[in-house]
Amino acid sequence: MDINTVATTPYDDQRPGTSGLRKKTRVFLEKPNYLENFVQATFDSLEDFQGKTLVIGGDGRYGNKEATQTIVRLAVANGFGRVLIGKYGLLSTPAASCVIRKYNAFGGFILSASHNPAGIDEDFGIKYNAGNGGPAPEKITEAIYEHTLKIDRYLSCESEDIHLEKVGSTKIGDTEVVVINPISDYAQLMQEIFDFDAIRELFKSGFRMCFDGMHAITGPYAKAILETELGAPSGTVINHIPRPDFGGGHPDPNLTYAKKLVSIMFGPTPPEFGAASDGDGDRNMILGSNFFVTPSDSLAILAANATLVPGYKDGLAGVARSMPTSAAVDQVAKALNIPCFETPTGWKFFGNLMDAGKITLCGEESFGTGSDHVREKDGLWAVLFWLNILAARKQSVETIVSEHWKTYGRNFYTRHDFEGVDKGRAEEMIDNLRNRLHTLPDRAVGTMHISFSDDFSYTDPVDGSKSSGQGIRIQFNDGSRIIFRLSGTGTEGATLRVYIERFEADQSKHNVETQEALSDLIAFAHSIADIQKFTGRSKPTVIT
Ligand code: G1P
Ligand code: ZN
Repeated sequence: MDINTVATTPYDDQRPGTSGLRKKTRVFLEKPNYLENFVQATFDSLEDFQGKTLVIGGDGRYGNKEATQTIVRLAVANGFGRVLIGKYGLLSTPAASCVIRKYNAFGGFILSASHNPAGIDEDFGIKYNAGNGGPAPEKITEAIYEHTLKIDRYLSCESEDIHLEKVGSTKIGDTEVVVINPISDYAQLMQEIFDFDAIRELFKSGFRMCFDGMHAITGPYAKAILETELGAPSGTVINHIPRPDFGGGHPDPNLTYAKKLVSIMFGPTPPEFGAASDGDGDRNMILGSNFFVTPSDSLAILAANATLVPGYKDGLAGVARSMPTSAAVDQVAKALNIPCFETPTGWKFFGNLMDAGKITLCGEESFGTGSDHVREKDGLWAVLFWLNILAARKQSVETIVSEHWKTYGRNFYTRHDFEGVDKGRAEEMIDNLRNRLHTLPDRAVGTMHISFSDDFSYTDPVDGSKSSGQGIRIQFNDGSRIIFRLSGTGTEGATLRVYIERFEADQSKHNVETQEALSDLIAFAHSIADIQKFTGRSKPTVIT
């Protein structure tokens, strides 16, 4: 096998964000060696991987297969001993995490831009996950970036394309290249965690659900697990065929983008349970008949009911939520007498806590929930968790949620996004708030008053690393909160996110509409931050 050293030149725009490198597909297609540079820079940032295993898979978006073939050639030339690839080049993000862990891989590449639209005129992305199955820590992503700035060659080899459509093993030089079933390892892990027999019984009893694959990666996983394995009627999974352009849609599971599912679940004859996942399968949305479960409540309910699930029957070591996620799970942790960690936004902070055995469950308000079974958030896992609870409790989604509120109180919660605002002005607004933090305490809104305010910072309890400037937090004496932060994932201008939460213990007040329940806090948020003055907007573009 001849290994070629190919000359290349650096680009200065290959800094991986928290979710890897995401660019327009055309950037990957048109800039020579764009993908090769990133992959080689990743290998150049790692040590001692010779002879070890690399996993490759993606969410099926445009460019997935071609990129897979390229990465295989670089992996062979760089000396990996074994490459595991999902059939057709597919692996959902949680399945990739599962495969990396199960086969003791050195690491893996996930080809995805998550919920961003796919296609030649949309987005493509690549991210490197380490041997624990989680996103590469900042130390590695920064090293990758440094290497992309000085790269002058990459290693490749001339070999025929791998037959991605056939499970099996071939040798290229000294490297074993194995095309694996992308579903079976993940499905087996799910079977080890959840009570599949109870869920089978539930479907047998006539229980109906609708899962929206949104033409992205989770369709085949949901079809295999829900329909084939668990006996849900055929047709339970809609939009189940992954398309290179995700059917032209925006596979982000929320009330705005999961249109078909929402119209079914809020239609005249909804099934008992509805769910969707995103482009690469790590997010989830949970619905009942005519009922939406906020991701923050969902996390709290999973924690409160965890011992109904065989995989968590011995209880939870602890839980964690990102700072802007509602404190609903905190109430459960308090009742269970287990630790509850509050981390900055983004999944990577949970990984350390899991590796150290400090938490079992975690989640974010942005439709991400997960546990220590992998090191990524996991959409279908959350759906199966809910199914397991529904099978055990034999109550409706709405009843489970309202009983939860009755026991723990309700954390009314909303997120207001102001998208595409001027970046400089948005930063000015945050600076302005930060400078006035000391003047805020004691200010009153109705019967509440501000008990403290800060710019959130976090010291990782495991490795001691510190992250500051993570969002302005205004806390009230009754547990209500207002949080202001700028998105770290937006592509155009800036996105201001305002998170508003109010705790209500009184059950007789639980049925108020959310925006109404929060209206005084929303008005206060606008006035305290001068949102209109700095963003030019009096109303958010998206309300969740
Ligand atoms: C958003 C979400 C955050 C999530 C991230 C990646 O980041 O808010 O919870 O971890 O996407 O999926 P943001 O744009 O707010 O920085
Ligand atoms: Zn995703």
